[in-house]
Amino acid sequence: MEKILVIGASGQIGSELVMELRKIYGDGQVFATDIKPAPPDITESGPFQLLDVMDDKQLIHFIIRNKITQIYHLAAVLSGNAEKLPLQAWRINMDSLMNILEVARMVEDVHRVFWPSSIAVFGPTTPRMNTPQLTVMEPITVYGVSKLAGERWCDYYFNKFGVDVRSVRYPGLISYKTEAGGGTTDYAVEIYYEAVRKGTYECFLTEDTALPMLFMHDAIKATINLMETDLSKLTIHNSYNLGGFSVTPKQVWQEIKKHIPEFSISYNPDFRQEIADSWPHSVDDTIAKLDWGFNYDYDLEKMTEIMLNEIRKKLN
Ligand code: SER
Repeated sequence: MEKILVIGASGQIGSELVMELRKIYGDGQVFATDIKPAPPDITESGPFQLLDVMDDKQLIHFIIRNKITQIYHLAAVLSGNAEKLPLQAWRINMDSLMNILEVARMVEDVHRVFWPSSIAVFGPTTPRMNTPQLTVMEPITVYGVSKLAGERWCDYYFNKFGVDVRSVRYPGLISYKTEAGGGTTDYAVEIYYEAVRKGTYECFLTEDTALPMLFMHDAIKATINLMETDLSKLTIHNSYNLGGFSVTPKQVWQEIKKHIPEFSISYNPDFRQEIADSWPHSVDDTIAKLDWGFNYDYDLEKMTEIMLNEIRKKLN
């Protein structure tokens, strides 16, 4: 019987992943934790506890006491926020991962770990179209540097200690339940909220900035698929490229306009433009497709319909 710990359960990914895992493994088997309070559906459907992943003693006690067998470690400082406090972000992103890898190495019951990487591991010297799995990686952000270092540590713990840690390089994630915080791809969430709230949006990236994106439904499906695949099928132990679809702010605006014709947009690029310009336009995820059957159900058109409907419901 699996007992699953989710760290970062109140965040953009965690708040949706916990509910999906509870459907599969049972409400009582999925332990949601975060340093901040979680949405009511999480606290009402199963165990939730405030837990700081930086506190290694509290972490290990929690894991042993609850006989945890799998960990999803989602807590991180995202790209935009990390540039404001680089050292603090480095410590949070790296120390938390090292705490988790050490626990997984030491505690016998813990037999599998998920930790997300990102397209931020790539940099301006990386080929930008259909970016390969294995390529030049010279990230220019603290967030990207921490994710790339983290990938190397995951690979190291797998090879040296046999820790079964799995990872994907998420593209920008678009969701309606919990808004992202402090990322560069966040415009693609904000734009939907502002379209419904105000009918106008000022974008912090230029109109033609192409980035790979994925709807949260597909990101959750991919994550669980990867975690449920037999270890023998996996050939990548640092992190799998995931593409989704590639879009620009202008294309998102045009798609929303089909539903809200009066929706207007203006562009006022800030420091995140440089970050976006250093990331891929599109990503080659052939290996994820071959190894564990990654595929996605939502493109820009299908996703836009759902985003607008759900945000309207939520804001009413
Ligand atoms: N979506 C993240 C960010 O923009 C990248 O992983 O920071």
